[in-house]
Amino acid sequence: MRIVVIGAGYVGLNCGAAFAYLGHEVGIVEKDPARVALLRSGGVPIHEPGLAELLAMPQVAARMTYTTDLAEVLPGARVALIAVGTPPGKHGQADTGWVEAAAEDVARDLAVGAQLVIVVKSTVPVGTNHRVQAAVARVLASRGVTCDVSFASNPEFLREGKALLDMFYPDRILVGSESSHALETARELYQEVLTQSFAPPPICPRPIGFALPAMLTTSTASAEMTKYASNAFLATKISFINEIAGLCERVGADVSQVADGMGLDARIGRGFLQAGLGWGGSCFPKDTQALIAMGADHEYTMPLLEASTAVNRRQRAQVVQKLQRALKGLRGREVGLLGLAFKAGTDDVRQAPAADLVQMLLECGAFVRAHDPVAADAFRRDYPSLDVTLTPDAEAAARGADALVVCTDWPEYVALDWRAVAAAMRGSVVVDGRNCLPTGVVRAAGLDLIRIGK
Ligand SMILES: NC(=O)c1ccc[n+]([C@@H]2O[C@H](COP(=O)([O-])OP(=O)(O)OC[C@H]3O[C@@H](n4cnc5c(N)ncnc54)[C@H](O)[C@@H]3O)[C@@H](O)[C@H]2O)c1
Repeated sequence: MRIVVIGAGYVGLNCGAAFAYLGHEVGIVEKDPARVALLRSGGVPIHEPGLAELLAMPQVAARMTYTTDLAEVLPGARVALIAVGTPPGKHGQADTGWVEAAAEDVARDLAVGAQLVIVVKSTVPVGTNHRVQAAVARVLASRGVTCDVSFASNPEFLREGKALLDMFYPDRILVGSESSHALETARELYQEVLTQSFAPPPICPRPIGFALPAMLTTSTASAEMTKYASNAFLATKISFINEIAGLCERVGADVSQVADGMGLDARIGRGFLQAGLGWGGSCFPKDTQALIAMGADHEYTMPLLEASTAVNRRQRAQVVQKLQRALKGLRGREVGLLGLAFKAGTDDVRQAPAADLVQMLLECGAFVRAHDPVAADAFRRDYPSLDVTLTPDAEAAARGADALVVCTDWPEYVALDWRAVAAAMRGSVVVDGRNCLPTGVVRAAGLDLIRIGK
């Protein structure tokens, strides 16, 4: 199938690469010319494990076209996937302007009589797909052109850091549409994934015991809502265990043991019960806020989500308090941060816990040095006003530091030479904001390890 993917970000690129591997002809349309130039020259603008290797495979490269010009790849396409950003607006509501603009671009360039399914992959509030349909109809009418366009909402559930795994081996594929043609086309688009009839790419073997994913078809509104509800639920699960973690510290329980005990209950599950600095990234914060804003539009309060957000904010503040207590004040103290990405496996720093922490530490008068194996450039670009020294390696972030804080659970931090770290530091305080460090090793190095919920 010839398809067009609009937006070469985390979703668009991973999707496009996977669809090309599965045999589709993929035209990637990206408005940023620098991104397109980089992709054309064989570069990859985001860090995602396996993506560079997949894009470099000859059969994938041969099926991918990168352009800033939609008109170059739209003719003959049966599907246009919209995977552009939906950033938070002023009051937390999702800004769907880019999605609507992308759909209007399609309507402007569509040939007379063309048949196309427009698939919205971006996370959008309920009602957006219908607005997209109206926008497309308006543009076509203004051109005096008749086309056979149908629409589907196909929210994406991939996790950054595991995006290809989630593309090839998803838990489910969700398609919301009122058009049987759009639903059939979506089924055809995902045929190989649904039947798992493809040979797994070497960079992404099929997980042992992987069962065929379901394709769930719903109304458009339900599909739009399901994406928000899933993210809000996962964020709430993390906030829940973080709230329990705070109490564990006060009553002498260990949150990891509690989470293990809870997680064995099939109704609960162990996933997303990892206490730490809290959630961040480009999805959970913006999607919870968008859901609350959606509620507000309908004069409906969302107290559970408000509380999840408040717990998450407090989680960062609690780490600062731990540092304040351990160092007897933060003014003039040197604090090293290990990890800037919102989680391991990605260079995404949008709403990263580390960014909140840097902000709070600077406000307390501390000096901050930070390291990240892949996200330092993105951090510098996204937070130009934060006065933090970025170091080339973790040891340099530790050198002369009164305290170290692990903000991202990169495996290389777990495997650090903790004796060397201890020797490089001026102080001895290490806050493990992800409960990921080898406790015995760190303590044996003479460091005062502070964890979350222990
Ligand atoms: N990142 C994730 O893990 C993830 C997971 C699931 C869903 N989502 C959702 O998917 C959507 C995309 O997220 P992302 O993280 O990939 O965003 P992103 O910011 O990484 O990428 C979006 C890209 O679209 C481009 N773009 C914007 N308007 C365009 C236009 N009119 N024509 C061509 N290109 C255009 C931007 O330049 C950018 O490169 C969002 O709604 C997000 O909530 C993201």
